[in-house]
Amino acid sequence: MPHFAEMTDPRCCYEFDTSRTGAELVQFRWVEKYRPDTLDDLISHQDIINTIRKFVADDRLPHLLFYGPPGTGKTSTILAIAKQIYSPREISSMVLEASYKLVILDEADAMTTDAQNALRRVIEKFTENTRFCIICNYLSKIIPALQSRCMRFRFGPLTNEQIMPRLEYVIAQEQNITQIIYNARENVNATPLFLNADGKKALITLANGDMRKVLNVLQSCSMAYDNVTEDNVYLCVGHPLRKDIENIVNWMLSNDFKTCYNIDFPSHIRIELLDKMSDIEYRLSSGTSEKLQLSSLIAAFQVARNMVLQEAMTQ
Ligand SMILES: Nc1ncnc2c1ncn2[C@@H]1O[C@H](COP(=O)(O)OP(=O)(O)OP(=O)(O)O)[C@@H](O)[C@H]1O
Ligand SMILES: [Mg+2]
Repeated sequence: MPHFAEMTDPRCCYEFDTSRTGAELVQFRWVEKYRPDTLDDLISHQDIINTIRKFVADDRLPHLLFYGPPGTGKTSTILAIAKQIYSPREISSMVLEASYKLVILDEADAMTTDAQNALRRVIEKFTENTRFCIICNYLSKIIPALQSRCMRFRFGPLTNEQIMPRLEYVIAQEQNITQIIYNARENVNATPLFLNADGKKALITLANGDMRKVLNVLQSCSMAYDNVTEDNVYLCVGHPLRKDIENIVNWMLSNDFKTCYNIDFPSHIRIELLDKMSDIEYRLSSGTSEKLQLSSLIAAFQVARNMVLQEAMTQ
């Protein structure tokens, strides 16, 4: 099977890992394929990256604590730092020429308090020749004593403006790969990637600042459907379509209260309704019966409807 090095199209403006065959490039999970290799490839948190870059350049890296929601680049950042500090030979042989070792404790919020307490002493004992990087989603699950031994960095959700260019880059890469495989007539099942502007917007809206989710949903949606459109993205993640939600609200409102077809409630009633809906969502997320919560949702709308009716009568 020809390798990519042999079939790189001169029109192709992107560089591919030349050691991989077309089949490998197609089958790879996109989150790993597009994991930033260097600090320059990271698309967000420039302030954090610049600070860390300075520490690395001065050879004064402190113990680090990265926290924040999923898919925001915590693991990618520390891996890129490790690649910058150590050469590939050092990483594969585990023989280090740098002045210290780097110990990465990913998903540390799953550690018990006892384990974290034990770590306090270890961190202090090996500070001379070891740097620790603790990574977690929830800072509150890390004991204060560990927090105070590390320099903390919060990785906030990525903004839409940061995600969009990266998403477009990935799409362009994937479209190039399919084109090259097609040109090389390699016997690989590479599904062409088609998507429209609404599809991109839906991916970003649903991801809520999680770049991993953008890539995972894009990959699964492109495999499940010929075209990545807004509806297909919502269907792919099992999120109700916007028009379905509209229909449900209309059904609940339309029975006897004819004037209330649109959901333009007065703001105090809307607040009441949203409060009840957030309670329902909370209860659902803690595993309560869906049937019961659906009744509660209908009841909340009935109450809102009655409030509107009462107000209309008193005016
Ligand atoms: N800042 C970023 N720049 C570029 N790509 C990113 C960034 N953040 C996340 N990604 C993409 O999302 C994938 C997952 O990122 P990463 O593993 O670094 O997230 P994380 O913050 O460690 O999440 P978790 O808390 O779930 O472990 C990466 O492989 C990469 O493709
Ligand atoms: Mg991670």
